[in-house]
Amino acid sequence: MKTQLENIYNSAKADIEKAQSMNDIDEIRLKYLSRKGEFNSIKKGLKDLSDEDKRTIGALANRITNDLEEMLKEKHDIFYQKELNEKLQHDRIDITLSGKYIPEGKVHPITATTNEIVTIFQNLGFSVVAPELSPEVETEYYNFDMLNVPHDHPARDVQDTFYIKNMPNAVLRSQTSGAQIHVMENQKPPIKVVAPGRVYRNENVNSRKNNFFHQIEGLYVDKGITFGDLKGVLNEFIRLYFGASRPTRFRSSFFPFTEPSAEVDVQCIMCQGKGCRTCSGTGWLEILGAGMVDVNVLKGVGIDPEIYSGFAFGMGIERLSMLKYAIDDIRLFFNNDKRFLEQF
Ligand code: DAH
Repeated sequence: MKTQLENIYNSAKADIEKAQSMNDIDEIRLKYLSRKGEFNSIKKGLKDLSDEDKRTIGALANRITNDLEEMLKEKHDIFYQKELNEKLQHDRIDITLSGKYIPEGKVHPITATTNEIVTIFQNLGFSVVAPELSPEVETEYYNFDMLNVPHDHPARDVQDTFYIKNMPNAVLRSQTSGAQIHVMENQKPPIKVVAPGRVYRNENVNSRKNNFFHQIEGLYVDKGITFGDLKGVLNEFIRLYFGASRPTRFRSSFFPFTEPSAEVDVQCIMCQGKGCRTCSGTGWLEILGAGMVDVNVLKGVGIDPEIYSGFAFGMGIERLSMLKYAIDDIRLFFNNDKRFLEQF
């Protein structure tokens, strides 16, 4: 048994010396030292030996396996280093190469402006109207009738509003104000909401007008709401959107669905109020319409004007975005020119 062991040892040693790679080392370990390897089959015979032999042969077997393990490890480390070095040579990374350009998507400026305005109103306690209460395809009922717009009002003319073929009374909404009616029909006061969305008008397209654009509608109905609340909220909005320094003014105006009504101007960003082409020489630019919700509108949706009052406003998103970023042509928003869109 002793010679058997020594023979195996010698042949294992010879194999180790001949080994050329980590792979060879693994195979040698498998052949001699694994559970099914040659040493183990001999070690199984130990139990038939005398106690004396068991001790000496056992010790020899252990010494031999330890020896082989050590030799294997030494070789393994050498090959490991060698193979690693080869790999590093081969896979060398050239850190001087320029990186791969991965174009980054941008948020469309209309979306960005809408989000910014909505966030300001959310911080002032307004919530956003669910889309189903603010549809783009409306009936005349919501777009005009319930907003107290008379039947002969010029805004109803096909020159101004897009009617949908073969759908009587259906229009592409010309204003987001219809959302006010949907909300008041569905919710009891207190109501404090904004509704952003797209509106359509039958316009000749030029640098200031497009046949669709975007608005944000606001509505606040509760007990004891006054024109002072309206001014406070809108002034705060303007301060947060434009920064504290931009002068504003309230001008009295008329809308069928508000009484009294007002329009709000901000000082022209192009000429700082001196008067230029953009502001037609006035030094001011209109950004929104607003007013106290008309008693007829409240009655129409079953809200008692003796108990509740409210204010509403509607502002043009393109107009607000153009003023803030000094964009001089509304068509830029919709041409999908990457050179423009990538600036945001
Ligand atoms: N809907 C109006 C427009 O498109 C804007 C407007 C004015 C909305 C006064 C309002 C309001 O809610 O109270 O010109």
